[in-house]
Amino acid sequence: MADAASGSVDRSVQVKLVLLGEAAVGKSSVVLRFVNNEFQANKEPTIGAAFLTQKCRLEDRVLRYEIWDTAGQERFHSLAPMYYRNAQAAVVVYDVTKASSLEKAKSWVKELQRQANPNIVIALAGNKVDLVQPSPSPSGATAGSESEDEADDATATPGDAPSPGGGEESLRQVPREEAQAYATEAGLLFFETSAKSGEGVVEIFTEIAKKIPIEHILASTRGAGRNGAAGGRPNASRQEGAVNLGENQAKSKDACNC
Ligand code: GTP
Ligand code: MG
Repeated sequence: MADAASGSVDRSVQVKLVLLGEAAVGKSSVVLRFVNNEFQANKEPTIGAAFLTQKCRLEDRVLRYEIWDTAGQERFHSLAPMYYRNAQAAVVVYDVTKASSLEKAKSWVKELQRQANPNIVIALAGNKVDLVQPSPSPSGATAGSESEDEADDATATPGDAPSPGGGEESLRQVPREEAQAYATEAGLLFFETSAKSGEGVVEIFTEIAKKIPIEHILASTRGAGRNGAAGGRPNASRQEGAVNLGENQAKSKDACNC
């Protein structure tokens, strides 16, 4: 959105955000929920990375997220620095039904803290919480839940699921408290999410938006041109299915647009 009155800079601040995490934890699904308010029960693995945008409106500003959704398969690991370089925000995703995915998330956080922008805002997201919480959380997202009738995802109940015969809660391999404690210690925002129901998804992007040092970005934008803030775009393929809905949907203030 242009804002002629405030001078030369567009009020919509571009923020480069990268998603990282083990394969099949639901990174693309979280983004699809955020950008398009959709869920696909059998989403195909990402190859390389996908690029999407979405706006996020806060009370006094509009952020335009430029989202790099990376591929979690190990063979793509070496590409990651290209996507997190100059990123102002990262969402590191794990699967609450798979303990090893939290370990992988921790290693991504370490890598980000060592090698990414020192001011990067990092959020940890424990996804697929619908598999362990039959009833929607009171902090549920505004993102809708039209896909409740979709089949449960096959990858969401891996063969290493714990204690056979238990109820839905028995699928949980990462206690919320454990992940929360780790996040607090590491200085991360923390959310449990469900791309399937929408729970927690908008909240992640809204809370990140509130923590982003906008003035700093604007200053560097003025100094470095438009690509300065977003860090430019890596020369990666745009995966088919990556959608750009960044210009639509303007809703409540202080909430991202989905
Ligand atoms: P890579 O691109 O390979 O790194 O995977 P990813 O992390 O992007 O995972 P993706 O979004 O492709 O999701 C993997 C599978 O998990 C898909 O079949 C999704 O439908 C399913 N899935 C994703 N999020 C959720 C969720 O919140 N709940 C449930 N039940 N299934 C989910
Ligand atoms: Mg993916």
